Amino acid sequence: MTTLKASVGSPYARILSIGSALPSRVLDNEYMVQFIDSSDEWIQQRTGIRERRWLAEGETLESLALAAARQAIERAGLQASDVDALLLSTVSHFHQTPALAPKLADELGMVDAAAYDISAACAGFCYALAQAEALVRAGSARHVLVIGAETLSQLTDLHDRGTAFIFADGAGAAIVGPSETNGIGPVVWGSDGSQAGAIWQTADWQSAVADGSWPALGMDGRAVFKWATSFIATATARCLEEAGLTPDDLDVFVPHQANNRITDTLLRYLKLPEKVVVARTIQGLGNNSAASVPIAMDSLLTSGQAKSGQTALLIGFGAGLVYAGQVVTLP
Ligand SMILES: CC(C)(COP(=O)(O)OP(=O)(O)OC[C@H]1O[C@@H](n2cnc3c(N)ncnc32)[C@H](O)[C@@H]1OP(=O)(O)O)[C@@H](O)C(=O)NCCC(=O)NCCS
Repeated sequence: MTTLKASVGSPYARILSIGSALPSRVLDNEYMVQFIDSSDEWIQQRTGIRERRWLAEGETLESLALAAARQAIERAGLQASDVDALLLSTVSHFHQTPALAPKLADELGMVDAAAYDISAACAGFCYALAQAEALVRAGSARHVLVIGAETLSQLTDLHDRGTAFIFADGAGAAIVGPSETNGIGPVVWGSDGSQAGAIWQTADWQSAVADGSWPALGMDGRAVFKWATSFIATATARCLEEAGLTPDDLDVFVPHQANNRITDTLLRYLKLPEKVVVARTIQGLGNNSAASVPIAMDSLLTSGQAKSGQTALLIGFGAGLVYAGQVVTLP
């Protein structure tokens, strides 16, 4: 039998930098309740959301993803040509094929980079981060650009009382690269396809073409809430255990920005000490799915609430149902 050469990677990987980009249109709850029987008070109390960012004229999924990516590349002190793989996590790219990642790689100036899209909804960034870490450690890539970008406003039915006020747009990006110490803990991830009906798209492309209805997101809010506050709470605790840490070792908690009440329940379950800084970007940004974790990390870092070198617990969860989380060292 012929012996094949194996690729040799870095012993460890870490996040070298984070970037983010937000659309410029700010919509408060008063705007949303024009279309649904609801109120600013109810939305704030049930979700924590005060306002959200939606695409303005001239802004696109692509423009947000590129802006976040450029910031992350620059902050890593790299040129685009130093980055050899691009993983884009999104459910908002309305082309079955080709994927958007190769186009982004080309526009960024990456040269012959591996580039593909990942569909893992609100767990998308943490899914892609796990893959990036594995690629760097396996020697399949040296620097990986991970992007989570969504324009869920384009998949929102303004008249759906169960979803209209939740979803939003944005992009976050990270560069993952080699490291002498470990900066990305083991991923805890999985799926439960038996609950695929908990968050759905109201029409697939074929039926949309047949009856002309534009697909929107639908959601069984109670089912998602129940799963997120029970199963996801235990999965989040496992991320800490797998990294060999206890709650006292944590500095920062960045849960997917789905709902402040879900975050509160996770906090109670995990018994995190008071000193732990908790991401709450949902208040001003809504739920921007795969973009929410990197945007929240960037927001905590740029506002000074979190610092480089601190230990952060990430968890993403959403349609599929799917989830992924890991402990990381902040760049
Ligand atoms: C969507 C969500 C906020 C709805 O809150 P809820 O408390 O579960 O709402 P329910 O459907 O149980 O309805 C409770 C009451 O609020 C009312 N209600 C529902 N939607 C409403 C709205 N938009 N505005 C005002 N009242 C509303 C219902 O009519 C019901 O009234 P009743 O008690 O008089 O019958 C909540 O289920 C949720 O956040 N789920 C998780 C969703 C999520 O995180 N998704 C993203 C995952 S990636």
